[in-house]
This record gives sequence, structure tokens and C-alpha cells, in this order.
Amino acid sequence: MKEYPSEYEVCPHCGNIASARNDNGIFLAEGSMLSDRYYIGVVLGCGGFGITYKAYDTVLDVVVAIKEYYPRGLVRRSEDGNSVDVCIKEDEHEYRAGLYRFMAEARTLARFSKHENIVSVYNYYELNRTANIVMEYLEGMTLKQYLDVNEGKMSVNDTLWVMQSMAKALIALHKENILHRDISPDNIFLCSNGKVKLLDFGAARLTGVTEASSKVVVKVGYAPPEQYRINEKQGAWTDLYALGATFYRALTGVVPTESLARMRGNQLKSPREYIGKDDEPIPEYLNNAIMKLLMLEVSDRFESAEELLEVLEKKKVVSLISSQNKHKIKERRKRAVAVVFAILPVLLMVLVWLYT
Ligand SMILES: Nc1ncnc2c1ncn2[C@@H]1O[C@H](COP(=O)(O)OP(=O)(O)OP(=O)(O)O)[C@@H](O)[C@H]1O
Ligand SMILES: [Mg+2]
Repeated sequence: MKEYPSEYEVCPHCGNIASARNDNGIFLAEGSMLSDRYYIGVVLGCGGFGITYKAYDTVLDVVVAIKEYYPRGLVRRSEDGNSVDVCIKEDEHEYRAGLYRFMAEARTLARFSKHENIVSVYNYYELNRTANIVMEYLEGMTLKQYLDVNEGKMSVNDTLWVMQSMAKALIALHKENILHRDISPDNIFLCSNGKVKLLDFGAARLTGVTEASSKVVVKVGYAPPEQYRINEKQGAWTDLYALGATFYRALTGVVPTESLARMRGNQLKSPREYIGKDDEPIPEYLNNAIMKLLMLEVSDRFESAEELLEVLEKKKVVSLISSQNKHKIKERRKRAVAVVFAILPVLLMVLVWLYT
């Protein structure tokens, strides 16, 4: 984000090739000015609903990240290069509903701006028939990028640090009755200064929500069964499952078996089962914590992110007996006691008969 002569094709400061990437003209051009204040830089990420740019705030003289509402498939960049147009008139309603959700994303983020494990938001405004969220610019990489350049895995100590940081972010969110609903390696940012921050609140909702629409968007492998079903209540347990899936992936290099396939009987190996003889061992408490987060039955998972954090900090080994199995064991015990009581009188009679 420094100036250089316009005849240069490559930035002498960072090596960026101007406008090398512009996905058929959907991105804002590098160097364009938004709201008479922000210079747009390179694209940092591009999802189904938004494009995130590196940018320069000319008022505060700081680098920022700007996320622009751009629902792919619904809109196109207009000829002026800044505004967006809805492609089909019939989609206008869906576009406006998305814009409303985007504003909700900004408001949710703003509530947690002071939390050290959640990205801070500085500003939100509507412009060019779309909207922008201005955030602190984070130096570093997402957990997904980290895994991509580290043979898919993270060490036990680093995993523990990232997991504890994310448990703290979830404690704050859940206390305010907010669910993130999209915890995955691409929404966890590992800052160069060692801090870990949660990003992307585009799917966040109040707790107790049921999935009312048939257009359920989930990340395969990270979504628990209740997130696939319409009219099923979601809660802290839904984020906790996704957190478990994220750290299963970080430790083993493998995305866990998809939850619906598990419901059909496909088994989920525990992280420890992936460890080869030359690999770093996974402590039992961490293995069990991840498997407990990934339980299919909501009641078998941790009750809260606080409970998870305590287990991680105290290195407690939690039991992995599911409530169904606990119930079976209880039933078996009851039956055994009943049998003993049934045969006890007969035994006594035999003993009395033998010794009299
Ligand atoms: N504040 C930030 N600082 C630096 N990089 C960021 C920041 N916010 C986002 N990014 C980068 O941009 C990528 C995309 O951001 P984000 O996850 O918010 O949106 P998305 O997944 O592309 O969009 P969608 O809302 O459609 O899911 C991130 O994975 C990260 O690499
Ligand atoms: Mg994202």
C-alpha cells in the first residue's frame, strides 16, 4: 500500500503485478477510491457473498481490509467499474435480503470488536448500490493457508493454542446468544504476532434458530447433522461440532467423515488412529476432547465452550461413552441386579436345605 510511478508494471515495494487478477472484471480495480477515503488494493479473498480487499484508509493513514457485498450469480459489476447491478429483476428481493444479512454481519462483528480473538470492525457504509465492511487488516494467514503449506497438519502445541483461542471467541459469542455457524480453517486467522482471530460472520445467527429455508449452506465435514435439517434447533453445540472438525483436520490432515454419512453407519476414526510411528503423539485428553466435540448426539457433546476450555487448560481426559451406550450399560446393570434378586431366594433355600 505504497505509491509508485504509474508506468511500472510491478510494484517495487511488494512485487504485486497491477490488476493481474480480476476474475472477468468482477473485482474493483486496484487503485480505485471508495467513499473519497479508501484506496482499494489486492483481493484477499472471494466467497459466495463477498469480496475482501486490502485497502488504505487515507484519513487514518492505516491499511485496512474491506469486505464488499457481492453475491455471486445475483449481480454483475456495472460499466462504471464501481457499482453493482442485479442481473435479473426477479432476484432484486433476494439481493436486498442478502444486503440486510450483510449489514447484520457488520453489526455482529462490531459488538465483539474489542475481543482479542475476533477481528475488529471499523466502519460500515452503503455505496454504489452495495455495502462495505471496513475491518482491521490482519498480517498472517488463515489456518487453511497454513495447513496447505504445512502438509495439511499442525503441531499439537500450536493446535492447542488455536483451539483455546477459538474457545474464548465462542464463549464471548455464545454469551450474547450468537452462533457463528461457519467455523472452519478458512475463517480462522493466524496473525503474525501470535494472536488467533475468528473471521467471517456472514452465516452468524441468534441461538435457538431453526433452518427455515431449504437453501441450507453447509461446509461438508464441518457441519453437524442438525445443520442439514430444516426445523432442527441449532445452538452452541452446532459451533462446537464445527470446532471439533476443524481441529480434527489440523491434527490429522484429514477432514472428518461427513456427519450424515456417520448417521448412516460410517465410522469416524479417532485422531490417534492416524498417528504413524514417526509422528508426534496426540495426548489422550486432546484426542478425547476432539471426539467429544464431534459426537453426533447433541447431548453427548460439551455443554459449552467454557467446559471445553477448562478441559484443554487442565488437560482432563473426558469419557467418550455416548448417552445411548450409557443407557445400555445402565439397563444391563439393572437386568443383572434383577436376576441376582430373582435367584437369591432359590440359592438361600438350596443352602438351607444342604446344611440342615
Ligand atoms: N481482516 C482481514 N485481514 C486480512 N485478511 C482478511 C481479513 N478478512 C478476510 N481476510 C481474507 O479474506 C478471506 C475471505 O474473507 P471472509 O472469510 O470474510 O469472506 P468469504 O469467505 O470470502 O466470503 P463469504 O462471506 O462469501 O463466505 C479470508 O479467508 C482471509 O484470507
Ligand atoms: Mg470465509
